[in-house]
Amino acid sequence: MARKPMMAGNWKMNNTVGEAVVLTQEISNQYEKEWPESVEIVICPPYVDLKPAKTVLDFDKTKIAVGAQNVYWESKGAYTGEISVPMIKEIGCACSIVGHSERRELFGETNEDVNRKVKALVEGGLYAIVCVGESLAVRDEGTTDEYVTAQVRAAFAGVDASDAAGCVVAYEPIWAIGTGRTATPEQAEAVCAAIRATLAELFGGEAAEEMRVLYGGSMNPGNVEGLLAQPNIDGGLIGGASLKCESFVQLIEACL
Ligand code: 13P
Repeated sequence: MARKPMMAGNWKMNNTVGEAVVLTQEISNQYEKEWPESVEIVICPPYVDLKPAKTVLDFDKTKIAVGAQNVYWESKGAYTGEISVPMIKEIGCACSIVGHSERRELFGETNEDVNRKVKALVEGGLYAIVCVGESLAVRDEGTTDEYVTAQVRAAFAGVDASDAAGCVVAYEPIWAIGTGRTATPEQAEAVCAAIRATLAELFGGEAAEEMRVLYGGSMNPGNVEGLLAQPNIDGGLIGGASLKCESFVQLIEACL
């Protein structure tokens, strides 16, 4: 079964509501109704921008999904500062990113936290975009595959195959994020293939063939083609290049 590629924009902590509405409208204005046949498109703005961005897309009937960048695993209660799955679901989010390396490194998110978030999302009927990836130290040690596949196993512990099948894994080598230094297509493919082999072990070959594995880390219109040509890379999780309409649309068009 051929997997439909996905282009997901992770805006990180960028764009006020006003700026988010402008960027979403710009992307929506470029929208071609043929796109959804060939590519699934997601934008992941900051929480405060989710509803305004979704409103723009709904008004234009643009088939671009909206996702959060993080979510908490409890559904409500005394968790000051957190946002739950039911909250993002009511806004119309299809998914949330979980386990981004910035959350792991800067906010102490553990593999166990990531697992709780994945479970909360699938129980709520949303899917997770699970980020995994090694530091330069791990790569230099030569233990990248073991490190990354352990992150995948931990993220999906106790999740059944039917729930996992709708989820997405994003391989984002930390040394390639925001640095302009992309993994070569061969480096990225090797790890994405190891991720898919792990998904097959966990959930069976059929589910693993359905699940999308994205690459993220300085993906841009100049390097997207070589990466997308790899058999186990099904699209991108885009930081910097998703903040400009022109480059994000070029990345979408590379999937057509
Ligand atoms: P850049 O595309 O800016 O390197 O960011 C990648 C990323 O972290 C997406 O989640």
